[in-house]
Amino acid sequence: MDNLEAQTYETFEKGTMKYTQYQRAVSKALLDRVPDEEASTSRTVLMVVGAGRGPFVRASLQAAEETGRKLKVYAVEKNLNAVVTLHSLIRMEGWDNMVTIISSDMRCWDAPEKADILVSELLGSFGDNELSLECLDRAQRFLKPDDISIPSSYTSFIQPVTALKLYNNVKSHKDLAHFETAYVVKLYRVARLAPSKSVFTFTHPEYSDNKSNQRYKKLHFEIPADTGSALVHGFAGYFDAVLYKDVHLGIEPTTTTPNMFSCSTSTQLLKKMSLPSHM
Ligand SMILES: C[S@@+](CC[C@H](N)C(=O)[O-])C[C@H]1O[C@@H](n2cnc3c(N)ncnc32)[C@H](O)[C@@H]1O
Repeated sequence: MDNLEAQTYETFEKGTMKYTQYQRAVSKALLDRVPDEEASTSRTVLMVVGAGRGPFVRASLQAAEETGRKLKVYAVEKNLNAVVTLHSLIRMEGWDNMVTIISSDMRCWDAPEKADILVSELLGSFGDNELSLECLDRAQRFLKPDDISIPSSYTSFIQPVTALKLYNNVKSHKDLAHFETAYVVKLYRVARLAPSKSVFTFTHPEYSDNKSNQRYKKLHFEIPADTGSALVHGFAGYFDAVLYKDVHLGIEPTTTTPNMFSCSTSTQLLKKMSLPSHM
């Protein structure tokens, strides 16, 4: 909803692991789409929707170079400040003949041609909390039927936690609203009380007629008997995304991608849980 500050992009860009994983995913998708014998004649159209200051454009072009595939890139970005930086990156790198910058909201843009691969990263820390669904539902009209979205799916997870410091911070506001808010934090002093469980999975592209993004789920957690007594202060939230086939990206503790620290990948959310009165 809001335009990000330059400093936020800088933080994203320090998390190089994310871009390495995207580059691996694009490489695999290019190799699957274009057989070796067509590598010099077939050109893949790739759209980066939400291109920011260009790291996914760079990762995609590097994937094309690595695989020897020809690529035409559209970089779609709604934040005018990021677009300015994107323009100078393209000029500086001499990518003008391969990359077209579109300064627009992806939900309103009329693409001049269809894409073979749609690349995005609107995942937030819970998979579906940065309007990825709402944006990609609209953007998938650019994609040729049965072509590739990177990511192809994402799943959110939650886990009950004891986090006294966070709980006291929230409590100090002395109102319910702060307890009913999801917080993006890097969990540090926290006890994870039971294994996390998956909540919602979304896949892209999704063309079914009766598609709905509404979800409801009830989960039951068993806290191991040897934990002793513990107060559940809230739930940590995570995501895991399948970028393409076996290439994934995520922060769920048992499958986390190493060295992830940008705010979209090292964050959890904490919400109040109603506790039985005897606890
Ligand atoms: C999480 S950031 C990722 C940026 C970049 N890919 C990176 O890693 O540095 C998401 C980007 O998508 C852009 N964005 C979000 N919604 C958009 C929309 N509806 N149309 C175009 N861009 C959008 C934001 O402005 C932001 O630059």
